Amino acid sequence: MGLMALDLDEWIEPDEHFIAELAEKGRLFAERHAAVVLALAGSEPAQQEVLGLLIEHMIRLHPHLLRLDGDTVRVVPSGASYRLEDWTAAPLDLAGRLAQEDFCLMAPGEAGYTLQAASLCFPSRWQLAEKMGRPMAAIHGPVPGFGDKLAHPVDRFFEYLHVDRPVWRVNWSVNDDPALFQPIRRRGPDAGTPITPGNAGERLFTRCERQTLRRLPSTGWILFTIKTYVDPLSCLADQPEAAAGLAAAVRDLPAGNRGYKNVASYEAAMLTYLDQLALAGE
Ligand code: HEM
Repeated sequence: MGLMALDLDEWIEPDEHFIAELAEKGRLFAERHAAVVLALAGSEPAQQEVLGLLIEHMIRLHPHLLRLDGDTVRVVPSGASYRLEDWTAAPLDLAGRLAQEDFCLMAPGEAGYTLQAASLCFPSRWQLAEKMGRPMAAIHGPVPGFGDKLAHPVDRFFEYLHVDRPVWRVNWSVNDDPALFQPIRRRGPDAGTPITPGNAGERLFTRCERQTLRRLPSTGWILFTIKTYVDPLSCLADQPEAAAGLAAAVRDLPAGNRGYKNVASYEAAMLTYLDQLALAGE
């Protein structure tokens, strides 16, 4: 599962893209609202709990980004402000406007934990409507090996996840589309021109998701956050060990995951490029 203990003070990870990513989220909330925010009835108390925890966290640890003045939350760098009373029906929608992270709420039930509400602006090739209300095994249906190897340990982990023992993990992929909003699998904007070892550094992008999981103290639901980092492969130019590590991880991918991660069409160019970076560091 690749889970590591999370220090709750590092739950949310704002960075230099805070303003740009909140603006991109703003565009998606305005133009694609139904695709990026979805909530089932009954999820409101857990949504409210997430919003409360997020505001408390941000104003305590990142006061240069978020302020609370009475009933009004202010995003300091952009000047955007929201009156809490306007969002009582959709607290998770507001939460998604205050941080770069995406938020998914999972509720316990007879079928195990199911997805009940989400603010998801930066999906890595999946769509909320297809996953809403579904349990973990079904959500991960397209992931090779999940049903056999991960579904059971993940279910058990969810059952025993303690409020005081939050965790984090990382998912990675490489693709030729730098868009943060990627609900469908498709080739990138320049798919017509071939990717070569000479242009792989600019044409390919690492996409890493920093994910956290925590149990909410009041409702007992589980909150899954996703912070997405997209960088051109050339960002590894001064990190030969990371380039070698990524090349090894790609070479080690089982056949099924190779197809799932879509690497086949640029694998040779990517590996030649990464090997060159790794060699340059020796
Ligand atoms: C311990 C917890 C979890 C583990 C170990 C896990 C593991 C994984 C793995 C290995 C992948 C494939 C990623 C890749 O190779 O690129 C994946 C994809 C995915 N995960 Fe998780 N995951 C966890 C929690 C969650 C939760 C709570 C959600 C709730 C929404 C979720 C939603 C997804 C979705 C939607 C995908 C993409 C599936 C698709 O292609 O349709 N995961 N996960």
